[in-house]
Amino acid sequence: MRRRLAAGNWKMHGARADLAEIDALMAAHPHPTVDLLICPPATLLHAAVERAAQHPLQIGAQDCHAAPSGAHTGDISAPMLADAGASAVILGHSERRADHAETSEAVCAKASAAQAAGLTAIICLGENLEEREAQATLDVIAEQLSASVPDTGNANNTVIAYEPCWAIGTGLTARPEQIGEVHDFIRAQLAARFGAGIAEGIRLLYGGSVKPANAAGIFAVPNVDGALVGGASLRAADFSPIITALS
Ligand code: G3P
Repeated sequence: MRRRLAAGNWKMHGARADLAEIDALMAAHPHPTVDLLICPPATLLHAAVERAAQHPLQIGAQDCHAAPSGAHTGDISAPMLADAGASAVILGHSERRADHAETSEAVCAKASAAQAAGLTAIICLGENLEEREAQATLDVIAEQLSASVPDTGNANNTVIAYEPCWAIGTGLTARPEQIGEVHDFIRAQLAARFGAGIAEGIRLLYGGSVKPANAAGIFAVPNVDGALVGGASLRAADFSPIITALS
């Protein structure tokens, strides 16, 4: 049985004072029945880990380099994230694919590095509006999934997040049937590649304007094992009802 996961992606938001939101979240969910993960910016990673030390809430990062160390000014390696206390890392987010020209092959190399460092790789996939309108969504998902997920993927070290680009930060949410179609497809693709046993264990998150008002409808879709939440994860008052809807 897959344990559900509520993950918050703070993106490039948050200062030390905002760690109080993590305190509020932990206070609201002292004994969570789902997995909880917050991915703050790297500047807050270690402080967030210390803050959450006495609680099952996990802390993750938003990117890593594919190499364990080296002359890569400004980058952070997967072993460094693990050393800071992170347990997961978001990889291949569409904002990184767009802003940093990250290819699926680069995402795959980062995911391998993350897994080797003991981190869970949360690998993001998603079509843009043009691709959806051209009815190419499943082709895009198939290509990104196959090229971004390493052969070492399994239920413990890999989570897939389906985030249609047109739904990110726009207030537009994919309809349940659109989400269901893609999640069923991802599950089937994973089964074809890794076998049904492994595929059944890998959690599939939906991301894209998940809010307290639409969370329950999204979580009722088969093969949705949780959410990767952006804007609504920044404040405990918004994220908490999403967690409750998932629980
Ligand atoms: O990774 C989360 C994400 O891209 C969705 O962001 O703000 O639409 O929930 P948001």
